[in-house]
Amino acid sequence: MKKFYITTPIYYVNDKPHIGHAYTTIAADLLNRFNKLQNRNTYFLTGTDEHGNKVFQSAKDKNIEIQKFCDQNAKHFIEAWKNLDIAYDQFIRTTDEKHIKGVQKFLEKLKDSGSIYKDKYQGLYCTGCEKFLTAKDLIGGRCSDHKKEPEKIEEENWFFALDKYLPELKKKIKSNEIQILPESKKREVLGLIEQKLDNFSISREKVKWGVPLPFDKEQITYVWVDALTNYINALDYAGDQKLFKKFWPADIHLMAKDILKFHAIFWPAMLIATKESLPKVIYAHGFFSINGQKMSKSLGNVIDPNELIGRFGVDGARYLILSQFPFGQDGDISQDHFVEKYNADLANDLGNLARRVLVMIEKYKISEKIKKSKVNLELTSKYLDRFEIYEALGAIWKKIRLANKYIDDTKPWELAKSDTEKLLETLQKLYADLEEISVNIEPFMPESSKKLKKALTDFEPINLFPKIE
Ligand code: MSP
Repeated sequence: MKKFYITTPIYYVNDKPHIGHAYTTIAADLLNRFNKLQNRNTYFLTGTDEHGNKVFQSAKDKNIEIQKFCDQNAKHFIEAWKNLDIAYDQFIRTTDEKHIKGVQKFLEKLKDSGSIYKDKYQGLYCTGCEKFLTAKDLIGGRCSDHKKEPEKIEEENWFFALDKYLPELKKKIKSNEIQILPESKKREVLGLIEQKLDNFSISREKVKWGVPLPFDKEQITYVWVDALTNYINALDYAGDQKLFKKFWPADIHLMAKDILKFHAIFWPAMLIATKESLPKVIYAHGFFSINGQKMSKSLGNVIDPNELIGRFGVDGARYLILSQFPFGQDGDISQDHFVEKYNADLANDLGNLARRVLVMIEKYKISEKIKKSKVNLELTSKYLDRFEIYEALGAIWKKIRLANKYIDDTKPWELAKSDTEKLLETLQKLYADLEEISVNIEPFMPESSKKLKKALTDFEPINLFPKIE
């Protein structure tokens, strides 16, 4: 049996989850469910990133003890994912004991590989980004992303000799041994490697909240090095390694483009240094804005996934978040548009089709003559195997719209009066379409898929997606 190991980024617990986090997590969930349905041995990891200054500062600002603060916010993520029907195999937290042990084991390995060294460092650090900035990251002396002045830092740190590994990394990316997707992102990463990249520090001296280096207790592991190792620590890298042997390397690390450099350059370079195998695919999906603006607390435009679930139901929320624009591209979301889209695609197209067909089968008393077929995922698999989520949804909706048109064209209510054989044939075809749809929507909308399958088995007309006023 082929295995499939998929990961999301581990999200910072400085705040509650928003639909940006939900976007990646729902996408990972659907890819995982799809691979499971394809009989692959799947493992799906998500979790929270709890160390570093960003989280530490947020707890301090709110005057809450740091671990308590992490516990509270991690709980919000766990709850949101439960509400969104996210079927992960493991939720890792970087404050978990096994993760901390794993970080230290990985650091020892880095040290043994001769890839790290101690050096004095001076730089501008942005806590919002949790990284050192360069001139091109600044606008008017402020971080272009967080609009804050970075902190001037001068300290002695441990460094990773990235330059030693770049030639090999470049080869592996070029040859697709590590596949960076979409293609445009591969070019971006190769472009970054072409420009000279600085070696990066793997530890910080003045940060208090994190994992101490096992060989230099005064230093705290840089939060990104700490975080990236979650992907192996979840598999008991520092324990019995049973899961690690079974599932590593990751088949896909999923994230948005904001953190691609860490995943496509820093992480594989450190894995090359420690002689671990490399992730197969690194996929950076697009970033979305709300009504043309970046989602941010200060702008008050943050969308809570729980709000969407309250309004549109779990599958309505999953669908609306996923169906906005092609997965690999950036896009803009307008909340006003959600009701319209829900009513058009879910209530009218899919909901109506299911109801119309099942009502007619009942009304014309032909359920006993309807044959059930064995359906598969052919409709969506060629897209989902390439992570083309939007296109897979497009294929399903094309089928739904054609089926609705087929009803309008063939007018079964007239056939009922004139040609019962043709009526049966027509409803049989529509029934088979619905069977195929019910299976293909499963990764996207598991609950509705289940309801539709049951309605088809019992020949019970259902109202899958009630219209919203
Ligand atoms: N803690 C790091 C990741 C460490 S992974 C080893 C981090 N956390 S984060 O909370 O900032 O999450 C960033 C990720 O959240 C993005 O890469 C993306 O997956 C998701 N998104 C956050 N906002 C988003 C949008 N507006 N649009 C799309 N995805 C978004 O970075």
